[in-house]
Amino acid sequence: MSSDTLIRINRFLAQAGLGSRRGVEAAIGEGRVSINGKLLTEMGAKVDPVKDRVLFDGKEVKPEKRAIYIFNKPDKVISTLSDPQGRPCVADFLEEFSVRLVPAGRLDYDVSGLLLMTNDGDYINKLLHPSFEVPRTYLAEVSPIPNAKLLKKLERGVELEDGFGKGTEAKIPNSNRLKDADLGGRPVVEVTVTEGRNHFVKRLFSACGHPVKKLVRVEFGPYKLSNLKIGRFKKVDFRELS
Ligand code: URA
Repeated sequence: MSSDTLIRINRFLAQAGLGSRRGVEAAIGEGRVSINGKLLTEMGAKVDPVKDRVLFDGKEVKPEKRAIYIFNKPDKVISTLSDPQGRPCVADFLEEFSVRLVPAGRLDYDVSGLLLMTNDGDYINKLLHPSFEVPRTYLAEVSPIPNAKLLKKLERGVELEDGFGKGTEAKIPNSNRLKDADLGGRPVVEVTVTEGRNHFVKRLFSACGHPVKKLVRVEFGPYKLSNLKIGRFKKVDFRELS
């Protein structure tokens, strides 16, 4: 077998949906991984994904192809895979999938829209890492009615309790956007931000004196919600981040 068919064990495990490359290294350190019956002790070990038998916690790991979906998360759904309070969560929508999908980041319980779901832990890390400044675009129904002063203020930025924050662009959206997000006829601002601090968009608007009544994410990095129906998934292609 030529050496170029071999891949590092942490990459193999991450591709199989068992966590990020860093995350699976911890599992290797804890002695939870074996290759061909031998407990793994070395981080840099390589495997042949076709020939070698890898066990994780005693269960055979099958290499899995990368899968990426966009999900239109309804509001009143938790964007994690379980909820200690027993509220509806994203896992309730995943029963039809044999691949193990994990959400790339979070949306608040009362926020709907684009949640990217993938089995590629490394891609999730990249999408969420602050250094990539991945743009996220939201439609925010606000009160009182938005005006030019609000748009300027959002783009200029405001002081929040955990530091300065701003939108990279703020505008009144076109009517197609509003139709897609079921917001036709409402006082809505379209804002793009490049960070994912907790409740960031709601806090930006509140600090500008226009609290959010409803929030929908319509774009995340290279992916768009378009007219995907609430509660539905759409398979999308992998896009490298620029
Ligand atoms: N900003 C918020 O306030 N909430 C979200 O869910 C996402 C961004």
